[in-house]
Amino acid sequence: MKHPEHIPASVTIQCIQDPDQKQRIARDVLEALPDWFGVPESREAYIRGSRDQTMFAANCGGAFSGFLCLKPTGNATVELAVMGIKKPFHRQGIGTLLFRAARDHAESAGFAFMQVKTVAAGHYEDYDRTNRFYQSLGFQELEVLPELWDAANPCQIYILSLKERASLTDLILRRHSYRGRFLPDRIPRQDLNLILEAGLAAPSGCNKQTTSLIAVDDPGMLEKIHAVIDPPVGETAPAMICVLSQKIYAYRDRCFAVQDYSAAIENMLLAITALGYQSCWYEGHITDTDRICDRIADILGVPPEYDLVCMLPVGVAESKPAAPRKKPFEERAFFNGFRTENA
Ligand SMILES: Cc1cc2nc3c(=O)[nH]c(=O)nc-3n(C[C@H](O)[C@H](O)[C@H](O)COP(=O)(O)O)c2cc1C
Repeated sequence: MKHPEHIPASVTIQCIQDPDQKQRIARDVLEALPDWFGVPESREAYIRGSRDQTMFAANCGGAFSGFLCLKPTGNATVELAVMGIKKPFHRQGIGTLLFRAARDHAESAGFAFMQVKTVAAGHYEDYDRTNRFYQSLGFQELEVLPELWDAANPCQIYILSLKERASLTDLILRRHSYRGRFLPDRIPRQDLNLILEAGLAAPSGCNKQTTSLIAVDDPGMLEKIHAVIDPPVGETAPAMICVLSQKIYAYRDRCFAVQDYSAAIENMLLAITALGYQSCWYEGHITDTDRICDRIADILGVPPEYDLVCMLPVGVAESKPAAPRKKPFEERAFFNGFRTENA
């Protein structure tokens, strides 16, 4: 979970127009990645090809750390033709930011699908990670072409529908508590900000806004916090959000703090799912008699008038989250009276 400290937390994604600059960026990045682009003829073909393709590049503090290129392969489909990120910048969320810029561009250009090719899972550790990365972005397996490259490198084609962004109800039904391992990829600050904004946008009783949030993405701070969570949960996640609640009375003796933070948590869980990450509402685990929550609050310097009530790990899942068994719809939802009429 250690990240190089010199990597800036924010990255700017630029659409590069000048063909010579595209070629320079492609050469600079791909020549730095001999493990992936070690065959000179194919590397040169990617570099030449970049001149005429749509390029997005990641500017990290004035230098380009990575890029991707889009190439139309039919009037409905665009291919993510090449993507490279210099090794010290891996696992910083830069691939996700580049992909989002490319997807938005392809969508507004009217394409219906995006395809990408990679070596099929189950052959090399690095490519297994690449497969999981594309899946986390929403790509689905289309076909494996065993001989396109060579027998040792079967080509997996992934496809993504650009017309069917998950609707809100799909998203709600797709959210499940995830308690497995996470990939170490850093979560871009832009994403953490969106998740926090979703939490703060939740309704609150009499608009008292009793919920506050702390996002933790500093590896040292995460390590300190996980040292007090016993038994460990969410310990491989590259970020977590701690939910703080203040007991403020809305009127008379009515305090809606629990309802307020619950609404904030569900908003954040949905935002986390929408952005391709996974999480779990850890409240029972940290607020039991051993009061792990108080020890986390001490580490984060939380003042005594706030209770730390919940912890949400955030990260790209290493495995698929399982859907829990829910009671049948007819047992819990009715029309026009209790158990009088079902849908
Ligand atoms: C108030 C509350 C506290 C929770 N605390 C924990 C917890 O401490 N540990 C845990 O593994 N899951 C916890 N969960 C997650 C639930 O176990 C989970 O939501 C439930 O099993 C249904 O699964 P689903 O979220 O996939 O629909 C909590 C959920 C809520 C709403």
